[in-house]
Amino acid sequence: MGEVAGRLVIVGGGVVGLSCAWQAAAHAFTAPADGVVLVDPQPGSGASWVAGGMLAPVTEAWPGEEALLELGSDSLVRWPHFAAELAAMSRADPGLRTEGTLVAAVDSGDREELDALATYLAGHGRPAQRLSGRELRALEPSLGPAVRAGLSVPGDLAVDNRALLAALLAAVANSGVRVLRQRVERVRDDGRSVTGVVLDDGTTLDASAVLVAAGAWSAALHPALARLVRPVKGEILRLRARRGALPPPSRTLRALVQGHHVYLVPRDDGRVVLGATQTEVGFDPDVTVGGVRDLLADAERVLPGIAEYALEETAASFRPGSPDNLPLLGGLGPDGLLVATGHGRNGILLAPVTADTVAALLSGGEVPAVAAVAHPGRFEVVPSVGVRTGVGT
Ligand code: GLY
Repeated sequence: MGEVAGRLVIVGGGVVGLSCAWQAAAHAFTAPADGVVLVDPQPGSGASWVAGGMLAPVTEAWPGEEALLELGSDSLVRWPHFAAELAAMSRADPGLRTEGTLVAAVDSGDREELDALATYLAGHGRPAQRLSGRELRALEPSLGPAVRAGLSVPGDLAVDNRALLAALLAAVANSGVRVLRQRVERVRDDGRSVTGVVLDDGTTLDASAVLVAAGAWSAALHPALARLVRPVKGEILRLRARRGALPPPSRTLRALVQGHHVYLVPRDDGRVVLGATQTEVGFDPDVTVGGVRDLLADAERVLPGIAEYALEETAASFRPGSPDNLPLLGGLGPDGLLVATGHGRNGILLAPVTADTVAALLSGGEVPAVAAVAHPGRFEVVPSVGVRTGVGT
């Protein structure tokens, strides 16, 4: 897409939509007073609000997902500048934490899985330091005796997702973005180019470009996105260390507990986010008894002291899953339609590279080379067969 003139409508006010709106207004899209309009019935909610906030390309790595490891690592490098620029623009602390990450294993199977992960990471230029249970407890005294071994990954960071959202909302307001608290029914086009969006009250908002950044809800907004994004439900708990309880870990703690993955991400105020379940059950909004039970049981094996913590909140939301776990970043379908969605487990991590990519696409600037793997053109719609993955990657 060359340089865009006229109005840009951004559909979705989660971390991705807000980051893109702020960067577009600040750097790429400076035309009329309402040049950038962000539409969301409740900006700053959804998966971004429920997240743990890990910035963890290495400890989220999975064999076969090397392109995601590269993209995530690139975005992590952008994070300190992104956070500093955001702090200046919002006059708020976006909550970046730089203490790093530990991964703990409980039983012998977990230890083997962790060994395999360490070998895989070393083979991809991301060596992780192997630690014994004793060494882990020296770093984090609240770890329990069940922890037998682990890894230290100091480069995987975290951010307070709710502080980040508050900062992004302020930055968006300070950059002159107009925020419309309505729901978008669909993106409208004339067969060749986008012409705007249809709102939930039946009115239309004209636009020369539309960015779909509506997370798990993106697929319904335009036929070009149908079946490319699906909801992947996650449940989290928020805990608070009470007076007299063992303090929370000082860095992000991930653990493998008899094959289950669990993470605890500390906040500055003695609170911890414990996550997360991962189920494919459509848009089922309920927090389940089984989900809460399993998260607490697994976390307690690793940090026995949490039995004394207050259980302050349970929440569920929907990660936007894509067919290959890479996001969709770029133009798709009619002229003027851009998408920034499908970020799966990594929306917060990938916000900086996503916003830089979108800003470059809007201004005709240089798109980060690493984002090429995320171009939506890799999915080819084959009539009567459906979506085939892997084309053009
Ligand atoms: N990034 C962690 C999660 O999606 O649960």
